[in-house]
Amino acid sequence: MTDQLTPLDDRIQQYLEAAERIAQGDTAVELPVSPNDEIGQLGLKILDFAWDLERRTRKEQVLAEIVASINDGLLLTDILEKVYESFKGIIPYNRIGLSLIEEGGIVRAYWAKTDRPVMQLGTGYSASLEGSTLQTIIETGQPRILNDLQAYLEQKPGSHSTGLIVKEGLRSSLTCPLFVAREPVGFIFFSSASPNTYTDEHVDTFVRIASKLSVIVEKGRLTSELAAQKEAVERQNKELEKLNELKNTFLGIAAHDLRNPLSTILLASEMLVDDTFEIDENEQKMLLGDIQLQTNYMLKLIDDLLDVTMIESGKLDLDLEPLDLPDFLISAVKRHARLAAAKDISITYQPGDPADILADSRRLRQVIDNLLSNAVKYSPPGSRITVHARVDGRMCWIGVTDEGPGIKPEESPQLFEYFSRASSRPTGGEKSTGLGLAISRRVIDAHGGKIGFESEVGRGSTFWFTLPLNH
Ligand SMILES: Nc1ncnc2c1ncn2[C@@H]1O[C@H](COP(=O)(O)OP(=O)(O)OP(=O)(O)O)[C@@H](O)[C@H]1O
Ligand SMILES: [Mg+2]
Repeated sequence: MTDQLTPLDDRIQQYLEAAERIAQGDTAVELPVSPNDEIGQLGLKILDFAWDLERRTRKEQVLAEIVASINDGLLLTDILEKVYESFKGIIPYNRIGLSLIEEGGIVRAYWAKTDRPVMQLGTGYSASLEGSTLQTIIETGQPRILNDLQAYLEQKPGSHSTGLIVKEGLRSSLTCPLFVAREPVGFIFFSSASPNTYTDEHVDTFVRIASKLSVIVEKGRLTSELAAQKEAVERQNKELEKLNELKNTFLGIAAHDLRNPLSTILLASEMLVDDTFEIDENEQKMLLGDIQLQTNYMLKLIDDLLDVTMIESGKLDLDLEPLDLPDFLISAVKRHARLAAAKDISITYQPGDPADILADSRRLRQVIDNLLSNAVKYSPPGSRITVHARVDGRMCWIGVTDEGPGIKPEESPQLFEYFSRASSRPTGGEKSTGLGLAISRRVIDAHGGKIGFESEVGRGSTFWFTLPLNH
């Protein structure tokens, strides 16, 4: 008897030592086990116990890691990024997805990570909750296991999202609802490339962490909402600042550029009214001409300022109508020919392709008038101006070419900004406010065209714009 007991005693001693080590947290024990006798079976039980303990410890570690991340103030997606690998210790998967329920009952994929080579169902994918199986999951409040996605898809070929997941090579899934204060807020999807991956044990594990995850989903949602609101307020502030700056510039311009002509008008009218100035008919005509000139200038300036106000408050509405482009350009040339002739400048219209465009004729006249008046204003006497147009694909291209001073390259970036005046100065004492090109750019933008220029200092410029053809 005692001879037989000795080897048994040996095993018992080893089992006692193993139990001691397991109690101290060291679960990596090796034991002689055999199912053939009771002591051998005891060894198997001890090993089982060690493995189970190890698994539980790992699970607790992951949970502790998630809780620590929550306490660190991380957002849910950051937490998922962080624990994506270690999560595997408690729930198996090849992919985790997070979708949130948006207002209006839309479920939108918000975050996903996979070890599969392709991702078919990416962030941004959205579907309606109404009538979907996700809605059933919310109603039962319980996670759902699908252990054969291919069979499920055959039954429900209309399930678009399942189709995408199967295309990614996934075969089973565990879908877990997230609730905050009993309100459904989203879902976490665990998916695996092997069928039959999920069991009730995984559901139990998820339920243990669900409430914590839900809280961070809500926190994340509030944080991003706050961030979006902050961004919107900052954007508004910037716009207001810009408008305020513009308003101040306006006041400056109005004070300065309206004051001078008003003084001239006042002086001229005083001379006309006061009998002590004995002025003849010719001088009277000259004074009235001055008054007319200054009044016109003030009217144009006020119109421009009103236009800027309208454009900047987003109220530039176009009144589109079909327009015969050659006719339109010929009348523009005629309007400017007289002022140009006074400076011995010629303006020629070079006939090009016939073209019909869809445009707001009043607004477009503003653009061509500014380009032509600029060409006349900044060109030296005796030079030539040409207006030409051609069809270029679906657009029409219109250019005004002059032989003026050109634009210095370093001045070109600001040319289309409000109140920007370049170093080229009027050659006939004309007024220059720096609004024409800025207004023209907004008008052409609103028509769906482009505006720009090519220029060579000392040789001249071509200011051009494009407009969509009327088909
Ligand atoms: N054809 C041109 N040749 C040389 N310089 C030009 C030409 N057209 C415009 N510029 C320069 O660009 C600046 C901006 O032109 P813009 O038409 O916006 O304003 P402006 O002519 O000064 O004033 P406004 O058009 O408001 O009466 C001008 O001040 C001028 O310096
Ligand atoms: Mg101008």
